[in-house]
Amino acid sequence: MKHAGAGIAITGSGSAAPVASLDNDQLSQIVETSDEWITARTGIRQRRLANSGGTLAQLATQAAAQAIAMAGLTALDIDLIVLATSTPDDLFGTAGLVQAGLGASRAVAFDLTAACSGFVFGLVTASQFIHTGVYRNVVLIGADVLSRWVDWSDRRTCILFGDAAGAVVLQANERDRLLGFELRSDGTQNHYLNLAYQPQATSLLDGLEIGQGSFHPITMNGQEVYRFAVRRVPEVIEKALFRANLGVEAVDWLLLHQANQRILDAVAQRLNIAPEKVISNLARYGNTSAASIPLALDEVVRQGTVNPGDTIATAGFGAGLTWGAAIFQWGR
Ligand code: COA
Repeated sequence: MKHAGAGIAITGSGSAAPVASLDNDQLSQIVETSDEWITARTGIRQRRLANSGGTLAQLATQAAAQAIAMAGLTALDIDLIVLATSTPDDLFGTAGLVQAGLGASRAVAFDLTAACSGFVFGLVTASQFIHTGVYRNVVLIGADVLSRWVDWSDRRTCILFGDAAGAVVLQANERDRLLGFELRSDGTQNHYLNLAYQPQATSLLDGLEIGQGSFHPITMNGQEVYRFAVRRVPEVIEKALFRANLGVEAVDWLLLHQANQRILDAVAQRLNIAPEKVISNLARYGNTSAASIPLALDEVVRQGTVNPGDTIATAGFGAGLTWGAAIFQWGR
């Protein structure tokens, strides 16, 4: 892409997931469902769940520390920390806790919320600071603990989600490895997927009423979200490829937000991308929201499946509604 400052490279990755896991058979003891139903409709077989003492900050810090080490940096080299999450430990922001946990005292840190698109929106946001020449070393984390907000009596949603964190390090680089992107939002369809605040009228004084309440558990229209993803994700990837001046044949790996295997398959088919190029680990983690893309990326990087110079088409999609794609090459 054309820019005034430096190019970017993604030079490190890391991930963390809680130890406790819940498989489909165990889930069948909580709601009326079955391993057969969940596997056939989603491809998910188990998910990791944070225990009651587990924090988002712990998972995010662990993932970020691994990514910093892989990049060959120390925490003091980091200029900026962006934490993409919808499930903060603190509504005022959790990135500061991660900064403190890492000892990244030079870094400015803030949260970014774009649900399951958070990592892709964060990647583009973080890149702007490098492109303009303002910062050189950025940590981008996608982390979510959706188990806190799932209605565990709703079998249409509780089967889908899990907890995890993933992180990458972005560095200023001579060549720009972010080749193209496209981000989209449509708030008119917000009601299809919500984790909404529900105010309760509280009277402070005569004639002065404020709304003090709490968040409702996740509600979702599964069929509409499915339709949205299968239609919009191929479109936005094609747009990002166009901006990168590349054809679909240039894509080595398709790295989608890990929502549902049927969505992954349908998107790949529409784009005419072979199944062996589709990265998938959702069978073991479920939908980990903002964490899912960097979690899957870290796995294939550490396995040596994805190599420096490989071209990756990534896309996030979810609540907002939000969706977005980025085309990048791994490594310097
Ligand atoms: N176990 C068993 N049966 C279930 C069930 C479960 N966990 N959840 C729903 N059912 C039943 C329904 O009650 C319904 O029964 P009925 O026909 O007797 O009414 C039937 O299965 C079909 O339900 P439906 O909601 O039409 O299923 P679906 O094929 O749309 O699959 C999802 C449901 C959630 C798997 C699917 O819609 C989906 O994956 N959507 C996208 C969700 C997503 O990815 N969200 C996050 C985006 S970031």
